[in-house]
Amino acid sequence: MTDDVDRNRRHFLAVATAVTGLAGIGAASIPFFSSLKPSARAQALGAPVEVPIGSLEPGEMIRVMWRGRVVFVVRRDEVMLQNLPLTRDFLADPDSEVIEQQPAYAANETRSVRPEYLVIEGSCTHLGCAPLPEFEVGPDALLEFGGFFCPCHGSKFDLAGRVYKGVPAPTNLRVPPHRFVRDDLIMIGIDSGAA
Ligand code: FES
Repeated sequence: MTDDVDRNRRHFLAVATAVTGLAGIGAASIPFFSSLKPSARAQALGAPVEVPIGSLEPGEMIRVMWRGRVVFVVRRDEVMLQNLPLTRDFLADPDSEVIEQQPAYAANETRSVRPEYLVIEGSCTHLGCAPLPEFEVGPDALLEFGGFFCPCHGSKFDLAGRVYKGVPAPTNLRVPPHRFVRDDLIMIGIDSGAA
């Protein structure tokens, strides 16, 4: 796993892992796939991915790959958590009633196992573009209470990945199965019965 720091926005840190998913692997890639070491092959097949979060500061975000999909891990700070209830009236599904979009243990206001940590797939539920983190808050900010903005057709999501009303995206961003192995380590791809 390699990390690539992206600092092109104010309050987050983006880290990409080199875990490769099956998406995009065609027949011509089979010899390459066969040559992968067992651990890499398992990861490509969709094995769980460990995500160290010990160095993630409040207000920062990392990106990781799981099953060929980008997953955002955000460590929400106090302001972010305080803002979550304020978006409610603007949201299409504030109570996560579309059950396919998250495991049952994340069908809560923060859509998370632990309120401080948001784990969501970075794929817009309209046509799959990558939403951009917009963590700046205030009346002059793109999203007054912070969240994610999809540049393709303007869909907006709050800091729990809940979709705003009146945008093209039909549902909240998806929460993948995940659990906390330790306070400083998340496993994505394994369901969580407890934090
Ligand atoms: S793909 Fe995100 S708004 Fe269309």
